Amino acid sequence: MERLQKKIANSGYCSRREAEKLITLGQVKVNDKLITELGFKVEDEDEIKINDILLENEEKVYFLLNKPRGIVSTTKDDKGRKTITSLIDTDLRIFPVGRLDYDTTGLIILTNDGSLSNILTNSKNKVEKTYVAKITGSLKPNELMALKNGVMLDGVKTKKAKVKIKKYDKKTDTSIVEITIIEGKNHQVKRMFEKVGHKVLKLKREKIAFLTLENLKSKEYRPLTIKEVKKLYSLDKSIKNKNKD
Ligand code: URA
Repeated sequence: MERLQKKIANSGYCSRREAEKLITLGQVKVNDKLITELGFKVEDEDEIKINDILLENEEKVYFLLNKPRGIVSTTKDDKGRKTITSLIDTDLRIFPVGRLDYDTTGLIILTNDGSLSNILTNSKNKVEKTYVAKITGSLKPNELMALKNGVMLDGVKTKKAKVKIKKYDKKTDTSIVEITIIEGKNHQVKRMFEKVGHKVLKLKREKIAFLTLENLKSKEYRPLTIKEVKKLYSLDKSIKNKNKD
């Protein structure tokens, strides 16, 4: 069972917010019955019509992009900056899974599959994202411990992280640090380092779960293989638990 607005958004028809509008405006029918209630739940086999036209599930596509600096990772930008979806050649309505900041580079998945996006962004599924950060100064043992055990962001402690110091450059007083997190709060890595007194000068995401930047230069992208998509789906802990019941 899934909420009607989520089901519409996941089909690739429009965003969840737009789907909510369609429902409240009385433009959506489920099994030929008008539904205006936002919490309405639907099953896979239910027939959804928008303005009396059957909602079909769009072909699902998955891309892995090496995002360059100077691109916003939203589908629209009110400042008119170049968006991440403009880098991908497709007519389908794709969106990025999670976000990378304007000045952050590296791996990002783009898809029109809302279900996979939900799996990858739900911290319960513990999907590891590995970043390499260039930071000011050098990490003291207590700062390293704090990053690993969690720091307070917005009143909530970040989940345990893996942190490795790769290099310290005495001349510039900067360090290269690898950090692996399972969450995706806004500007999380930058804010975590800031909390322990270091500014992030450069940030690159090098890994998402088992996916790496291998063979992808900046701005380059490739489709995910079916095997990779299945492997990403298998990260969904809720399905494993459901099967156990
Ligand atoms: N953490 C950040 O601070 N920025 C990003 O772009 C990604 C993670």
